[in-house]
Amino acid sequence: SDDINRIIDHKLFSEDDIQEMCKRLGKQLTEDYAGKKPLVIGALKGAVYFLTDLTREMDVEEQLDFIDVSSYGDGFESTGKVEIVSDVATDVKDRDVLIVEDIVDSGLTLKFMKDLFKERGAKSVKCCVMLNKEARRTTDVEIEYYGSKVGDEFVVGYGMDFLNMYRNIPYVGVLKPEIIEKYIK
Ligand code: PRP
Ligand code: MN
Ligand code: MG
Repeated sequence: SDDINRIIDHKLFSEDDIQEMCKRLGKQLTEDYAGKKPLVIGALKGAVYFLTDLTREMDVEEQLDFIDVSSYGDGFESTGKVEIVSDVATDVKDRDVLIVEDIVDSGLTLKFMKDLFKERGAKSVKCCVMLNKEARRTTDVEIEYYGSKVGDEFVVGYGMDFLNMYRNIPYVGVLKPEIIEKYIK
């Protein structure tokens, strides 16, 4: 954790905060998807940690799949162009799709996925996002469920990365500005 202290400025959401979010959202989703068999689609790689905790709080007959879409590459700023790195294996036609995301920033990634599954004939397409970074939104996309809003800070941990690192930090922290500066020069 000396290594972690070197890169994290402060903790934003503790492990308890996150579990509380998952419990609240899981309870809501259990009610809203009662009697349905939702296809929960996790967006790789960032959503993995949130998805595993969230779905264990959902008492519904769900199925899981994953899609890897990327607009950031290894960088920290969106290229603006979203591409499918690895597609879902499931036919989404007539399915109630619930996309799970760690964070929505510009909204481009989420918008791309929602449009994709709607085009493929899903019965419904909704999303459950841990963090909603509204200040960075550049595209209009509805977020049906989210854990918390966040300000315009660079957050890492609990799935969220900087240069594909730090995803396994168990809480959400704000990256020290000097770490970012060190790499963008
Ligand atoms: C991050 C994050 C979201 C997306 C949000 O993914 O996990 O999926 O960016 O940004 P946006 O709203 O501006 O599109 P990233 O592309 O970095 O891939 P990763 O999940 O593998 O880290
Ligand atoms: Mn992602
Ligand atoms: Mg990323």
